[in-house]
Amino acid sequence: MPVLRRVGERFAAEAPLAGLTVACCLHVTAETASLVRALRAGGAEVALAAANPLSTQDDVAAALAAEDGVEVHATRGTDLAAYAEGIAAVAARAPAVALDDGADLIERLHADGAAEALLGASEETTTGLVRLRALDAAGGLRCAVVAVNEALAERAFNDRYGTGQSTLDGILRATNTLLAGRTLVVLGYGWTGRGVAERARGAGASVVVCEVDPVRALEARMQGFEVMPSLAAAERGDVFVTVTGSRAVLGRAHFERMKDGAILANAGHFDVEIDLAALRELAGGSGREVRPLVEQFDVRGRRLHLLAQGRVVNLAAAEGHPAAVMDLSFALQALVVEALAREPGALAPGVHPVPAAIDREVARLKLEALGVEIDVPTPEQESYRGSWGTSS
Ligand SMILES: NC(=O)c1ccc[n+]([C@@H]2O[C@H](COP(=O)([O-])OP(=O)(O)OC[C@H]3O[C@@H](n4cnc5c(N)ncnc54)[C@H](O)[C@@H]3O)[C@@H](O)[C@H]2O)c1
Repeated sequence: MPVLRRVGERFAAEAPLAGLTVACCLHVTAETASLVRALRAGGAEVALAAANPLSTQDDVAAALAAEDGVEVHATRGTDLAAYAEGIAAVAARAPAVALDDGADLIERLHADGAAEALLGASEETTTGLVRLRALDAAGGLRCAVVAVNEALAERAFNDRYGTGQSTLDGILRATNTLLAGRTLVVLGYGWTGRGVAERARGAGASVVVCEVDPVRALEARMQGFEVMPSLAAAERGDVFVTVTGSRAVLGRAHFERMKDGAILANAGHFDVEIDLAALRELAGGSGREVRPLVEQFDVRGRRLHLLAQGRVVNLAAAEGHPAAVMDLSFALQALVVEALAREPGALAPGVHPVPAAIDREVARLKLEALGVEIDVPTPEQESYRGSWGTSS
C-alpha cells in the first residue's frame, strides 16, 4: 500500500494526530491494519471494532492487539450481540474522530450523546451515507461526516475495480463455477454494479443488468449489456449478484422462476437484498450446506445456491478489496482525519464531500507510486481555462 505508506511516513515526521483518539468501525483486514498503523504513526490512539461479523481476519485482529497495542473488538463469525458490544466499547472511548463503514458507530455515538464532541467522522460506504443523510434530513445529525465513499479517487477505483473483482473472486472461491458461457445478472448498476458487470463480461459471461434508474439503465444498455426487468432476468440467469443498497430485490417471485443450479450472491452492504425469509419459506426451511458458504435450497425440485448467507460475498467468501484499491480509500481516510485534526470546528454538522485537494493528493501519490508522470498545464493554458468568453 504505497500511498498509505507515504502518508504514514509524513505522519511519523509531523505527528499531526498527537493526542487524538480515533474510534474505527471497519472491516478488520490486513489493509485496515495498515490504516491503523498510519494513524498511530501520526500520534493517534486507535480503538477498532468490526464492521461486519463475517469479515474479520482473526490473525490481523490478534496482531494489532499484541504488536500495536490497539484496542480491538473483532472475532470472525461472532454473533450480532457481540458485534454491537464491540461498537459500544469503541464508542465508549469518547473519540475525537470516528471512522465508520455502515454508520453503526456514528449511530451508537449519537445514542450515547457523544456525537457533539466529535471533531468529525468519516463514512466509507453508500449505505452508511444514505442512513446519515436521512438522519440529517430529520434534523438529528450532530456531527460533521465526510463522505469518503463519494470521493472520486474512491468511486472510480474502489467500487468499480475493487468490488467488481473481489465479488467475482468470492463467487468463484465459494463455487468454483465457470463464468464463461454463463449468464450473470447484476441487480443495480451503480459504481459497484458497473464493476461487477465489466469484470463478469471480461470472464466470458453474458451479462444482464436490472435497474430502476432510467439513466443508469440506459448507460448499461449503451455499454452493451442486456437490460431487462428482474423477473425476466430471473428466468435467464445462472448467477445473480445484488448490489443495489435496497432490500428484497430478489424475492419469492424471482426464486419461483429461477433455473436449477442458480447461484445467488449479494455484494450490497446489508444482507437484505436477497429475501432470505421468502427463500426459506419457499424451500420449506433452511437449506443444506453443500460446500463451505454454499447453502442449497430445494425450490420445487430446483436447486438454488445461496452464498455466504446473503452477506457481502466479496468479504465473506473472499478477502475483500485488494490492497491496491484499499490503499487509495484508506489514504483518503487518513488525510481526512488529518484535516479534521488540523482544522477543528471547520465543518458544521452535516454530510460533507472530501475536499478536492485530498482527492488530488491521493491520485498524485498513487501515480507517483506507479511511476506514471502526467502533464502540467502551462501558464497560458491555465489562463485560457480560467478566462471568460475568449477563443484566442
Ligand atoms: N461489497 C462491497 O465491498 C461494497 C463496496 C461498495 C459498496 N457496497 C454496497 O453496494 C451497494 C450499492 O453501492 P453503490 O455505491 O453501487 O450504490 P449506487 O447508489 O451507486 O448504485 C445502486 C444502484 O442500484 C439501483 N437500484 C436500487 N434499487 C434497485 C432495484 N430494486 N433493482 C435494481 N436496481 C436497483 C439504483 O438505481 C442504483 O443505480 C450499497 O449497499 C453499498 O453499501 C458494497
